Parts: sequence; structure tokens; C-alpha cells
Amino acid sequence: QATEAPAAPGQPQAQATSAPTRTITILYGSETGNSQALAESLTDKLKAKNLKVSVSSMDDFKPKKIKEVEDLFIITATHGEGDPPDNAIQFHEFLLGRKAPKLENVRFSVLALGDESYEHFCQTGKDFDNRLEELGATRIYNRVDCDVDYDELAEEWMNGVLAKLEEDQGNQQTVDIAAPTPAEQPIYSKSNPFSAEVLENINLSGKGSNKETRHIELSLDGSNFSYEPGDCLAIYPKNDPDLVKQVIKQLDWNPEQTVPINKQGEIRSIHEALTSIFEITRLTKGLLDKAVSYFKNDDLLKLIADNEQIKQYIDGRDLLDLIQDYPPAELDPTTMMHWLRKIPARQYSISSSYKANPDEVHLTIATVRYNSCGRDRTGVCSGEFAERIKPGDVVEVYVHRNPNFKFPFDESTPVIMIGPGTGVAPFRGYIEEREELDLKGDTWLFFGDQHFRSDFLYQVDWQNWLKKGYLSKMDVAFSRDTAEKVYVQNRLLENAKDVFAWLERGAHLFVCGDEKRMAKDVHQTLIQIVAEQKDVSREEAEAYINQLKQEKRYQRDVY
Ligand code: 2AM
Repeated sequence: QATEAPAAPGQPQAQATSAPTRTITILYGSETGNSQALAESLTDKLKAKNLKVSVSSMDDFKPKKIKEVEDLFIITATHGEGDPPDNAIQFHEFLLGRKAPKLENVRFSVLALGDESYEHFCQTGKDFDNRLEELGATRIYNRVDCDVDYDELAEEWMNGVLAKLEEDQGNQQTVDIAAPTPAEQPIYSKSNPFSAEVLENINLSGKGSNKETRHIELSLDGSNFSYEPGDCLAIYPKNDPDLVKQVIKQLDWNPEQTVPINKQGEIRSIHEALTSIFEITRLTKGLLDKAVSYFKNDDLLKLIADNEQIKQYIDGRDLLDLIQDYPPAELDPTTMMHWLRKIPARQYSISSSYKANPDEVHLTIATVRYNSCGRDRTGVCSGEFAERIKPGDVVEVYVHRNPNFKFPFDESTPVIMIGPGTGVAPFRGYIEEREELDLKGDTWLFFGDQHFRSDFLYQVDWQNWLKKGYLSKMDVAFSRDTAEKVYVQNRLLENAKDVFAWLERGAHLFVCGDEKRMAKDVHQTLIQIVAEQKDVSREEAEAYINQLKQEKRYQRDVY
């Protein structure tokens, strides 16, 4: 049953005063908190217009309530290979499933966050958008798909949604979305990063290690930034100067010539633009699609006609490969901003406590090195720290709050932490903060890496905290010291009885680190432990683990 009579042709829609105000529901699916922050920002904007709004994470929303929803705005990230973020999985499954009800009274719009360098760009947003239409809901504003640099497009979407709602209220006044920010807001942000001085940059990995894992300390002095254990620091890296040089040489450009770098008409030298502004280390389908009209290369035109070929080609190649393999017939450098995307910030889990180190932030960064298509390559940001950045240099940073990785701060809640490799970072920050607050209580760390001698990250810190009682239990798994590999999940299993007892006592469980293998295997192991210890079926054990998730007692920061 429609709640509003349609306006007669030529008649204005119902007057603002007489129109029954529809309630607005904002649901977000967030992995690292970006969608949540946008959802909250949209909520504030709607409330400022006296609209009735409720906002929640998708997993805090009862799917069956969807029938009562009137105006629905979905803001969601996409994870991994086009999967919904953790807190969107259940709602996604429900809505896309056969039991989803008809939603003819619902009006909606979707904002999708993603990363264009992934094949299934913004897939979760697309899923919701298509499905809502299928269920009969009315799209009142077109979906917007955002790449990592999402601020502008997200703002446009919110603007559009707001304008649409106001228009429907018969309220034609223009919406001033760029409301002045309150004075207490920090001046530094994602779009205005802080230049942090590098205080320390040391290799933690010992002789004989296959890895190079660095401990970095940065100064936040003067930034207004603070953070909590579990939060991330985002860094805007600079491209390798050798690569920049080669690209410029290959294109026969003058490095000092200036080019526009954004819609506002700011300019930089070609050299600076390719060093600090634009991404040149990764190819995406989007980039090829856009570049083709500027390159005027017939072979490139052929390549982009075939999705499979594109996929194969962009994997492991960068801009230098592209211009070598498909030399542009002509390429005006001033068009750069139209086909290159901005360098996305790299996020690292913070490995220090702000309370213990005011105005400092510590990171634990593994250097990424690989060979691809016959050329040795390094990760843009980790490579910069490994090869170029020295104490005294500055890097551009901002703090990224992670609402989905929040630790308890009381002595009565047991805490289990699973963090092999650099996954141990947030746990160092957490235990350091507990020491600062003089909080004892049950804390249990599972750490793993290749070799005891060379890869035991922060060994001295852990031993100190064990001695002082801020860490009560630690189990380690060094995978390459024994004939048979041992991983953190083997240690979990060996301790199944205690792990389960801790969970039954209300423990919070944290997993940080490799997503594809480690976090998946740990998850399966947890299910196995519950099934065996509780003596229940796999399904019941899964439900137990899901319940932990629901209660935010099982949180992950995986990458
Ligand atoms: P490996 O490289 O010797 O196989 C940190 O990188 C540690 O995680 C290393 O000891 C690594 O072992 C280990 N690791 C690799 N695959 C894993 C998995 N599926 N589960 C848990 N740990 C894993």
C-alpha cells in the first residue's frame, strides 16, 4: 500500500508541511570504516535537514525489518574478490536470496566503495543496487561507484540524494552540503595529509631471514592526530624516481613541463606529477579503457576489446610496461589526469600506543619485493621505506580510525590475539597501552613467522610484558625451523581446551594479518575447536563463531 498519493500531472508534489515524512534508513557495509564514516556523515547531513534517520551497520539490522523500510540508502565497500565486507555478509545473503520480500514501497540509492584495480570493482554495491530494483524498489538516485580516492564522488552522491529528498518534500531550496566544519576538527585529514617526520627506520629481521620487516617511528607532533590501538595510519607514498625517469624518457617528455593534476586546475611539473600525484605502478582495466583514446595505438585498441586478455595483461605490469608494449602514437602530457588515477594511500595497522608515545606513531612494514615480467619490482610504499626514506625525511600521513578492530580495556575480559608476521602490529600497540594504563588480566598472544632466530618480531617487548604480567600467555609457531611446518592454528589446536574455556569466559578474539591463507585457516580451526570442545556439529560450531562476530567478540584486520 503506497503511503503517498502520486502527484497529479502538472501539480507540485505534496507540500513540505503536509507530506508525511518518510523515515530514512542508512545501512553500511564496512571493512575498514570508510563506509561507516560516510554513513555517519550522511546521517548528520540529513538530520541537519530535520529528516528522520536511522543508521546502522548491516549486521545490526534485522533483515526482516526491510519490509518496514521506506527510504533506504546503502553505503558499502567490496572486499577481496567482489565479496561483501564481513559485516554485510548476512544481509547480502538475505537480500540476494530467494526469501527476500517484494520491496515496492522502498525508495533507494546505493553508494559503492571499491578499488578499480580489482576485477570485481564495487561488486557488492552493484549487487545491492540490482537486487533492490529486481525486488521492485524505486531507485531515486543512480548508484555511484567510487575508486579508492572516493571523497569527491561520495560527496556528489550525498549531494544528489539530499537534493532528491528535498525536491520530494516540495522544498526547492538548494542544499548547502559543504557545511563549515566545526572548529575542533583536526585540520589534517585524508585530503589534507600531515607531513610526519621519520624518527626511526630499522630492519627488524635478523641475518638469514628471507624477509625484511621494518620498524618505523614517525612524529605526529603538530598534527592534532591521536589514535587508539587497532587504528591504522595511512601513508601517501611516492613513486620510485628511477621508474619515473624511465617513463618520462620513454615518452620523450620534458620533465619540467607543467600539467594540470585535478579539476580545480592545479598544476605540477610532469616529474612531480608522476612522482607524487599519479599512480604509475599498477594497471587497471579502467586505465586502459581511458588511455586508449589518448594513445592512438591500434594494438592497444585490439587488446581492450577482450576482457580476458586485459586481465592477463594488467597482472604484474605497470605504466612503463604499457608504454613500452603499446607505444602511444602521440600522447599529450596535459591529458594525464584524465587517464591516470591518484596514488592511493597505503594503510598500516599501528604498532604503538599513543598514550605511551604521545605524538608518535610506530609501524611494522614488510618490504614487498618480487619479479614480474622480467623486471625486479618493489611495493611502492614498503619499497620507499626500504630504499629511500631516512630519519629526518617526511612522509604524508593521516590516521584512519578502524571501528571494526576495537579492543576491550578492562581486566575482567580475556583477550586472545592471533597475529603472525606483521599481523602482530596492533597487538604490540594494545599491550603497550595496557602497560601504560597498568591493566593486567588475561591476554594471550599467538605469533608465528618463519624462523625463531631472525623473525621473532619484537621478541624483547613480548618477553618484558610477559615478565611484568601485561601479557599473560604467548604461543609461537616458527614454520621453517622444523621439518614439519607449524602455524599459529596448530598452536590454537594444541591449546583447544584453554582457547574454548577462554571463549566461554567471554574472551574477545582478534585476528590480524594475511587474509587469503592464514585468516581462513584460523577461522576453520576455531570452528573445529568449538565443535570438538562443545561436542556439537560443524553447523552449530559455525553458529557459535558467528555469534561471537555478532557480539563483536571476534574481530579481524586482515589483508
Ligand atoms: P611459511 O611462509 O613458512 O609457510 C608469517 O608470514 C608466518 O605465516 C610464516 O611463518 C608463514 O609460514 C606463515 N603461514 C603461511 N601460510 C599460513 C597459513 N595458511 N596459516 C598460518 N600461517 C601461515
